[in-house]
Amino acid sequence: MDSKLQVEYRKPNSQDIKGIAFLHYTIINSSLVKHVPSICKFSDLTLSIDDVEKNIEDMVKDQNRDIIVASLEDKIVGFLSLWTESYSDDLIAAPFTTIEYIEVHPDYRSLGIGQSFMQEAERIARLKNHQYLELLVWETNKNAIKLYERNNFTPIVIRMIKKL
Ligand SMILES: CC(C)(COP(=O)(O)OP(=O)(O)OC[C@H]1O[C@@H](n2cnc3c(N)ncnc32)[C@H](O)[C@@H]1OP(=O)(O)O)[C@@H](O)C(=O)NCCC(=O)NCCS
Repeated sequence: MDSKLQVEYRKPNSQDIKGIAFLHYTIINSSLVKHVPSICKFSDLTLSIDDVEKNIEDMVKDQNRDIIVASLEDKIVGFLSLWTESYSDDLIAAPFTTIEYIEVHPDYRSLGIGQSFMQEAERIARLKNHQYLELLVWETNKNAIKLYERNNFTPIVIRMIKKL
């Protein structure tokens, strides 16, 4: 359905930084309160728009990352960030690809943009000959988990914390 909307998937340019930052800022700050209220109670994790803009600028320049945006009539409606991990951990042999951020503007959800990003992530990881694609997701984030399960991801770990 998103093809009808003429969504373009491409690498970002310097003029996209503000648009990506605004999308990321809005989604991250609202998601934290929604999905991890227990942590928000103890520390203020909200980021300022200036911090986010600087982070996005650095991420776009980073050789270890692949950033893709979904753009619709010059508006950034989606953001995908992939990180190449060079070190193996206890479970996964490096190099492998981590889906660092996958975000779609709330007004453009359920149109297949998230699914197109998943396919793009897999295409890029395969091009690099990576054996694994991995990601972290909050366990209350049911929409995202559905998307990942539909793409044959399997959960392998639950992260637990205790505030001391
Ligand atoms: C998770 C997220 C990226 C999904 O993006 P999305 O663009 O809505 O994803 P899709 O459109 O591909 O799929 C979502 C739903 O739309 C449905 N859909 C997809 N294409 C469709 C179409 N053409 N017509 C109707 N429905 C469609 C899918 O079947 C899916 O339904 P389901 O929830 O019942 O499984 C988005 O919800 C988001 O940005 N969330 C906030 C950020 C976030 O939590 N990111 C993940 C952090 S780990």
